[in-house]
Amino acid sequence: MDTTEQTWFITGTSRGFGRTLTRAALRAGDRVAATARRPEQLADLVEEFGDRILPLALDVTDPAAARAALDGAHARFGRIDVLVNNAGYANVSPIETTEDADFRTQFETNFWGVYHVTKAAIPLLRAQQGGLVMQFSSVGGRVGGSPGLASYQAAKFAIDGFSRVLRAETAPFGVKVLVVEPSGFRTDWAGSSMTVHDVPAAYAGTVGAMNTRMRQSGAGAAGDPVRAAEILVRVAKRRDVPEHLPIGAYAAEASIAQGRRLLAEDTRWREVARSADFAEAYPVPFPADAAS
Ligand SMILES: NC(=O)c1ccc[n+]([C@@H]2O[C@H](COP(=O)([O-])OP(=O)(O)OC[C@H]3O[C@@H](n4cnc5c(N)ncnc54)[C@H](OP(=O)(O)O)[C@@H]3O)[C@@H](O)[C@H]2O)c1
Repeated sequence: MDTTEQTWFITGTSRGFGRTLTRAALRAGDRVAATARRPEQLADLVEEFGDRILPLALDVTDPAAARAALDGAHARFGRIDVLVNNAGYANVSPIETTEDADFRTQFETNFWGVYHVTKAAIPLLRAQQGGLVMQFSSVGGRVGGSPGLASYQAAKFAIDGFSRVLRAETAPFGVKVLVVEPSGFRTDWAGSSMTVHDVPAAYAGTVGAMNTRMRQSGAGAAGDPVRAAEILVRVAKRRDVPEHLPIGAYAAEASIAQGRRLLAEDTRWREVARSADFAEAYPVPFPADAAS
């Protein structure tokens, strides 16, 4: 493992994962440009860690602010080794009754925020010929399908699609891209950060049940954000970094199960898929249909 000190740039550090990651990096001896909508919320970390933390104002929906924050971090620290797109939130409602504005506003932070900050960082990463981009997706951006979370999970899938292209384009500059896919962790994500809209009776068994599962899990979510942060700081110091990292027991198992399901389905339909090309045998038998 490489234990060289690193410089981090992290979004959404006021609370939750962003804050625990900031603290874990600082405790490891690293430097952090810690961005938040209200950077005064980082005063206690400044007091504890002095000039190794640089609090910066950043609402990730503002592209000019993203550029200014990255410039500020670069001016102070001279490089950015790890860029973390962490800021994000989810509201709950069925697609049928979601206000268009609410669906789009979630995308502004969850996807466009990642786009703005990443795009502003690429010239710096290219100039220094290296760096790690750590994108906070979710197990909901790997497996998905959680009723009530369409905007959020669509944005998380979009982050993965964006990050695959980013990886291909920036690998020649020595840049690595890691998509982090947590399951439930004890942060404010399913608490004060989440608005639950009215769930019509027709969606009680889907959106309503999902909402109950997410928000009333007894002692709280299974995941410890302090452990996750420590793990991510260790991962960032490796030379061999995975492209995707499910984190939390449910994320680990659900991701493997999803991979197996997809493999089985693709294998079952393989000959039909191939048969659409000019050069292939056509027509071919379909897999047996379900009994009506
Ligand atoms: N906790 C989980 O169970 C879980 C599971 C999977 C994925 N995640 C992902 O983990 C990431 C962090 O969430 P969390 O669990 O730490 O939730 P959290 O405790 O609610 O923290 C969310 C953070 O995002 C910030 N934020 C929201 N909108 C922003 C914006 N427009 N600009 C800048 N900052 C903004 C918040 O800042 P303010 O304080 O200003 O509101 C806060 O610092 C998110 O991307 C989330 O989707 C979480």
